[in-house]
Amino acid sequence: MYRTLFSLVLSKLDPERAHQLAFFVIKALPTFGVGRLVRRFTRPDPSLAVDALGLRFDSPFGVAAGFDKDGEGVIGLGQLGFGHVEVGTLTARAQPGNEKPRLFRLIPDRAVINRMGFNNHGAATAARRLGTIAATRKRPVLGVNIGKSRVVSVEDATADYLESARVLAPVADYLVVNVSSPNTPGLRGLQELDLLAPLLRAVREVADEVPLLVKIAPDLTDDQVRKIADLVVDLRLAGIIATNTTIAREGLRTDPAVVEKAGAGGLSGAPLAERSLEVLRLIRAQVPAELCVISVGGVETAADVQRRLDAGATLVQGYTAFLYLGPLWARQINRGLVRLR
Ligand code: FNR
Repeated sequence: MYRTLFSLVLSKLDPERAHQLAFFVIKALPTFGVGRLVRRFTRPDPSLAVDALGLRFDSPFGVAAGFDKDGEGVIGLGQLGFGHVEVGTLTARAQPGNEKPRLFRLIPDRAVINRMGFNNHGAATAARRLGTIAATRKRPVLGVNIGKSRVVSVEDATADYLESARVLAPVADYLVVNVSSPNTPGLRGLQELDLLAPLLRAVREVADEVPLLVKIAPDLTDDQVRKIADLVVDLRLAGIIATNTTIAREGLRTDPAVVEKAGAGGLSGAPLAERSLEVLRLIRAQVPAELCVISVGGVETAADVQRRLDAGATLVQGYTAFLYLGPLWARQINRGLVRLR
């Protein structure tokens, strides 16, 4: 049914409008008890539960950052069967993001290009909302992903991250330092070890009550990935999330003119799968088994999720395929995982 709805209606809408429409429904799920009914239908099998980061996840599969920037749909997303929701990226200052259009479908590739640019209402506003959600009993695990405000220079990035970390750590189950989105100038430069190490140390100091993870880009060299993995272990952080979107455009099926017209931004979805899996393997070979590694990038099916788990992922996330496959996606993955076991 969703496939028909997608091809007849949603694919004709501007992608950001389609997302807003779908998200409106997800946000409304908890009202009038609808979500509780849905939950009966989507609840992950108990055999799928994962203990990680000192937390219990109902399913290894969760929603990647960027889908719910301001933490408005956490309960509804949990009711659709996701074991965790990573909200954000949130920044210390509220910001509108880049000019629209800024989200583009590459349908033949089951991919999208986005240059949203961290549009969000700011860390303090989100912290108030998330405080209420954190106190809710029936909810998914709540991750909070933070980034640098656009108006703040890279030199002042640490203070800006700390401002977000201070207000958001108390309401987060885990906190993520995002240094890998391609749409904030200079952000990915923070992956350089001499900048990353002091940044992570500083955030860890103000947010020592929550597990801290760092999210990295697929465009790093293998050597850079290994060095960041070593740093995470040295600093005794809780884990790594790999990967964010890519700036690469190789091997796409979509008409090059369409890709060109979309312009700059991060590519996500199926074409990212191979590199994302490769980065997961690099990290897993480098870090102890207890370190939490969250794999994200191009996952579409239960078999894809299982492949990541088999390659050593502790948890798996997805975003782009949700746009293509619709609201029952998490349920399909959870049920598929049970069948594969
Ligand atoms: C993202 N992603 C993202 N990541 C992040 O850390 N902070 C963010 O704000 C966003 N925003 C965002 C917006 C849009 C429209 C997309 C498609 C993606 C990246 C996302 O979390 C994930 O790492 C990649 O999309 C790869 O996973 P998928 O989409 O291939 O499953």
